[in-house]
Amino acid sequence: MADEMTPEQEHPEHDNEQPESGGGQVTRRQFLVGAGVGAVVGAAGVAGVLSFVKPTPETKPAVAQPSAPSTASPVTQIASNVPPTMRQVTLNIDGKSYDLTVDVRMSLWEVMVYQLGLSSSNLGCDRAQCGACAVVVDGRAVNGCTLLAARLGRGQKIITVDGLNKGTRLEELHPIARAFHQQGGYQCGLCTRGLIMSTYALLQKNPSPNEAEVQDALAGNICRCGEYAKVYDSVFRAAEDMRKKA
Ligand code: FES
Ligand code: FES
Repeated sequence: MADEMTPEQEHPEHDNEQPESGGGQVTRRQFLVGAGVGAVVGAAGVAGVLSFVKPTPETKPAVAQPSAPSTASPVTQIASNVPPTMRQVTLNIDGKSYDLTVDVRMSLWEVMVYQLGLSSSNLGCDRAQCGACAVVVDGRAVNGCTLLAARLGRGQKIITVDGLNKGTRLEELHPIARAFHQQGGYQCGLCTRGLIMSTYALLQKNPSPNEAEVQDALAGNICRCGEYAKVYDSVFRAAEDMRKKA
């Protein structure tokens, strides 16, 4: 929008942040929102878990081929081929279906990052205390770090920030992500995706929340950088922008 101030104009304390590219391209700050700052991925963990990645039909778990004709149903054959600690699930993430075999002890965050290579949610505490990993499941904000992926294979709709944004340019961001960017509702960005998803869950149910309702909805999201005032500004601006579009 031509008459809008850029985030740098609105927040001169960030003047030292230079766009990485010109025009409407992504600045470093847009990158913070859109590209995964704070995601903690241990290379060793990746390698270990990827050993049982089954992402494509070609690499799906082999179905046992009996040497003699079997009367067992295909379902029985497949089930008997999966170790007791694994489950075959279909995860619906940001509108795409993923057929996977997951370890029953793995969290949704671990499966999204280690098995699917998705970088659309961050990890903070890994113990349900900070909300950095929040995604929306069937309309509710939940902590991906403590929700077991094996419990989400029955058609539940999982949404991350990548499912909200159409792209990384400012005009392609979802109004909530854009509001966080424009109001400067973040510093390091570790908490931002979780805050955006908690805000999304709130505004889907309540388009005009008051301060107490925002406090309640974001109670599980901790910002270590202490940007709460701007976070609240972002939520109210997003609510207003979304009401105007509705
Ligand atoms: S990383 Fe999940 S709540 Fe902190
Ligand atoms: S912006 Fe750093 S934790 Fe919130």
